[in-house]
Amino acid sequence: MNIPLIDLKKQYLYIKEEIDNAIQNVISDAAFIGGKYVNTFEQNFAKYIGIKHCIGVGNGTDALFIALKVLGVGHGDEIITVANSFIATSEAITMTGASVVFVDCEEQFFNIDVNLIENAITEKTKAIIPVHLYGQPAEMDTIMDIARKYNLFVIEDAAQAHGAEYKGCKVGTIGDLACFSFFPSKNLGAYGDSGVIVTNNDNLAKKVRMFANHGRIEKYIHEFEGVNSRLDGLQAAILDVKLKYLDKWNQRRIKIAGMYSEGLKETLMTPYELPYAKHVYHLYVVRTRNRDKVKSMLQERGILAGIHYPIPLPFLKAYSYLGHKPEDFPVAYALKDEILSLPIYGDMPDEEVNYVVENLKNILKKHMI
Ligand SMILES: Cc1ncc(COP(=O)(O)O)c(C=O)c1O
Repeated sequence: MNIPLIDLKKQYLYIKEEIDNAIQNVISDAAFIGGKYVNTFEQNFAKYIGIKHCIGVGNGTDALFIALKVLGVGHGDEIITVANSFIATSEAITMTGASVVFVDCEEQFFNIDVNLIENAITEKTKAIIPVHLYGQPAEMDTIMDIARKYNLFVIEDAAQAHGAEYKGCKVGTIGDLACFSFFPSKNLGAYGDSGVIVTNNDNLAKKVRMFANHGRIEKYIHEFEGVNSRLDGLQAAILDVKLKYLDKWNQRRIKIAGMYSEGLKETLMTPYELPYAKHVYHLYVVRTRNRDKVKSMLQERGILAGIHYPIPLPFLKAYSYLGHKPEDFPVAYALKDEILSLPIYGDMPDEEVNYVVENLKNILKKHMI
C-alpha cells in the first residue's frame, strides 16, 4: 500500500463536479481579480470564523507581513514569535525591517511557551505572533493577558488551524488580527497560493484592504504605497466550494488522530491535546527515538511521513546572524530530532490509518526503538 502524507487528488475527485463548475463560472464571468467570487468567499469565511472582516490576500506570508505593516511595525521594533514554526512567520517580521525575537516552545503542546514570553519583552517590543502549530491553538488567554499588560498587539498565525477552537472561540477571533494561509495542503487549501487576514477592528480592516491593493480604495486614488497581494477569483471560488466541507474534513482528521493515538499510545509519544481546545490536526505529530530510521523504514513500507520542522527557526542559516545556541531553545532543539508527522488528510480511509499503525508498531517493536 502506498500512503502519501496528504492526498489532494483524492479530495479533488470527491468534489470534482462542484470545483469544475466553480472554475468555469469564474472564467465565463471573467471575474479574475476581486469581484463577486472574492466577495462571497470573504463573507462566508468571516461568517465561518465568527468575525466581522475577512480580506483576501495573495498568501499566508503576505497576510502576516500586511498585518504587521498596518499595525505600524518597522525598523527599530521587536516582534516575539515561537522558535518552531515555518519560516514564513519570522520572514514576515524581518520583511518589515523589524527584528524577530524567538521564544522556545512548550514540551507537551509544541506551541509557544507562554511562561517565557515576559522575559523576551523589551521597550522595543510591539507585538506577539503566536502560531497555532499543527492545528492546536496556542495558550491564548495568557498571551492576551501579557499583551494587555505590556500594551502589545497580537497577530494570530492561524495558517495551520482553520476551524480550531480555544475555549469555544474559533482561532482567528482572539488577537487584533489573524492570518490564514490556503496553501494547497492546508486543512482548507486552494489550488495555488492564497490567504486571508481577519479582524473585528473596522479601522484595521480598512487599512489591510488598502495596503493589499496598492494603498487605494478607488482605482488610481492611492493614499499610500502598499503592495499587490490579492486573492484571485479562481482561488476564491474553489475555496468557497471547499469551505462547505471543512468541518466534515476536520472531524475526519480528529477521528483519524484518535485512531492513531489509540493504536500507538503504548509505543511512542502521541500528541497531547489541551483539554479546552479543539485541535484540528493539520499535522499529527508523534515523538520517537531514532526518528530518521523510523521514517525511512516507514518509507520502505510505502508510508510517507514528514518532519515539521527539521531545523527550528533560530538555527536556520537565515538566522545565523542572531548567534543562537542550542541551550537558548532547549525544547525546540530536542524536538527537532524526535518529531515525525504521520499521514493525515480529510479523506484518509480507515484501512490506510490501520496500515500506518500496524507498520509503525512493528517497526518500533522489532527494532526495539
Ligand atoms: C505556520 C505558518 N505560517 C505561515 C505560513 C505561510 O503561508 P503561505 O505558504 O500561504 O505563504 C505557513 C504555510 O505555509 C505556515 O505553516
